[in-house]
Formats: sequence, C-alpha cells, structure tokens
Amino acid sequence: MELKNLVRKNILNLTPYTSARDIYQDGIFLDANENSFGSVIGSELYELNRYPDPNQKQLRKALSEYLKIDLAKIFFGVGSDEIIDLVIRIFCEPGKSNVVIPQPTYGMYKVLCDINDINVKSCKLDLNFDLDVEAMLKYVDSETKIIFLCSPNNPTGNLLSREKIKLIAKSFTGIIFIDEAYIEFSEVNSFVKELDNYKNVIISRTFSKAWGLAGIRIGYCLADEFIIDILFKVKAPYTINKLTENLVLQTINNQTEKENLVSKIISERNRLIIELSLFDFVITVHQTEANFILTKMKNAIDVFNHLNRKGIRVRMIKDDDRLKDYLRITVGNKIENDLLIKTLKEFK
Ligand SMILES: Cc1ncc(COP(=O)(O)O)c(C=O)c1O
Repeated sequence: MELKNLVRKNILNLTPYTSARDIYQDGIFLDANENSFGSVIGSELYELNRYPDPNQKQLRKALSEYLKIDLAKIFFGVGSDEIIDLVIRIFCEPGKSNVVIPQPTYGMYKVLCDINDINVKSCKLDLNFDLDVEAMLKYVDSETKIIFLCSPNNPTGNLLSREKIKLIAKSFTGIIFIDEAYIEFSEVNSFVKELDNYKNVIISRTFSKAWGLAGIRIGYCLADEFIIDILFKVKAPYTINKLTENLVLQTINNQTEKENLVSKIISERNRLIIELSLFDFVITVHQTEANFILTKMKNAIDVFNHLNRKGIRVRMIKDDDRLKDYLRITVGNKIENDLLIKTLKEFK
C-alpha cells in the first residue's frame, strides 16, 4: 500500500504556508510582525509576545523520550479533536468519499465528517459493543477512506478486541484511525507497539483525560512519518500555544502525579461500579476501561432528571437507539461520588 495514493491530490500537491519561525529560530526577529516591546502581561513569562514553535520540536522530543517512539512519528494538535478534523481533510474528498464508523461511539467523528461534507456509513458494534468485523467490512467500498475505531470506546467504556483491529488493518487499505483517548485507564497496552507493522494506522491520544489537562487543549497522534509530514503541511502555523507547550513540558516529567491520578480514578471507578450495581433500578453496569461508566437503568430519563434537579450532571446518549435507557457517568472525585450515591438513594 502506497500511503501517498490515499492522500487527496490537492493536499499532496499543496505548497504549505511558510511561517517566519519555520525559516529562522534565532536572531533579531523583525519578520513576523510580533510586538517587539513585550506583552501586556510582561515579557518574562515564556516570551509571550513571540509566536510559538510551529514544528513543536521540544514537545515532540519530550514525548518521543517518554513514549520511546521516533520523534518523526509524532504530531501535536489542539486536542485530539483537531487531529480528527485534519485527518478527515487530508484523506477524504468532500461530497465523494465516505468513512465507516462503528456505533455507538464518540460523536465528534460524525460531526466533523458532516462539517467536511463526508458521507458517514454507520455500522453497529455487536451486542458486547465489540467489533463485528464481517458486518463492518461490508460497509467498505471504493470510496471509503477512513475507519474510526475508539478503544476504550466512548460511551461504552470497553476495549475493542485487539485481534479484530489487526484483522481490519490488514484487510482495509484505507486509514484506520484508532482513538486511544482513554487508554491510560486500561490495563491493556496501547496499539503503539504495533504501529510499525501497519503503515495505515493513526493512533490518537490526549492530555485531556489521564493527565487532567483538558483546559489547555492538547492531544497528539502517532503515525507513519509520511502521514506526520502531511499533517504538518496542512495544520495552521501556530496551533500549540506557548502556555500549553510549557505546561506539557513540565508535566511530562511528572508521571508519578499522572499515575497517582489514574489510580485514584480507577479505585473510585471500582467503588462506583459496586455501589451502582446495588440499586434495584440499575439493570446493568458495563465493564469499563475508561474514566466513565455506562449503566442501563429501568428509568434512565427519570434518574437523569432527578440528578439534574440536584445539580448532578451525567450524560444521556441521544444519538443511538440502543442506548436510550442508559446513562454515562464520569467517575468523579470521592466527595462527588459520595454525593452521587446519596442522591441516587433518594430517587423514588
Ligand atoms: C474518544 C474521544 N476522543 C477524543 C476526545 C477529545 O479529546 P481532546 O480533548 O483531546 O480534543 C474525547 C473527548 O471526550 C473522546 O471521548
């Protein structure tokens, strides 16, 4: 498979914008129309008057050392949402191409396809919310450019079977996008170790969940060098801002704190699973490898309204018929979870 044959022709032939900091990284900067006097909040803090590094060099180096993966295979985005959008725009022809999305899953894949005028072929995950490879591959045709796979899957919480993902990656010659936003909450290893065996696989990850940095908007993807080069070609020049960059550089060396947060979440997750299972209106509590729990209830809408009235926000999944009696509950901190359980006990 030639990756370049998968890329839209206009993207392949694109002459990208050359930003000032692409050309020179040192010297007296009179080339980018920045404010040479400083910034309104002082210039000591990270030289905020200057544009950030368009090539994400320090960030990529730090992540490369952390993940032990070649820097050339790393790209950062403004959250993984930006990466999903870029990937759609690189590989899919508006009004012509389609993508396959096994449902239920993260809603942004479809929304971003709709925005880009890309046809979405929704197939169903099986009864255990795992892949039904045979049924799914029937949806693939000559215009199918991407298959989106989310593992652990949002909103169901389970991992997709590794063997089935490999089967798809072998038989589908387009792009397989594996979203691992929640992988740090799982016991199972990331697909990253397999990356070298599958040129057509893109793995996306995020700092929004396990690292607790949703507020600074940063995610990344790992893929073949050719795909990474194209991502750099199409992204806006200065996507990752300096505050975000510096916070990530500080945090990435503080893995102990990340692991601490993850183990607190997992322990609260285990407690919530037990507590939720005790309610007589709870039908099932799904096995989860993420920081949320999907639970089926006799009267999910009434429970949702009851919680909402008490100021506790959980999620109903409206866009999938199979989930109309379900709630997706993010694992809170101990105080929040105590309050959730107490409030559920008051439900009549
Ligand atoms: C599966 C999945 N992927 C990606 C995202 C978005 O992540 P980010 O904050 O990195 O844009 C989410 C957010 O909830 C998600 O559930």
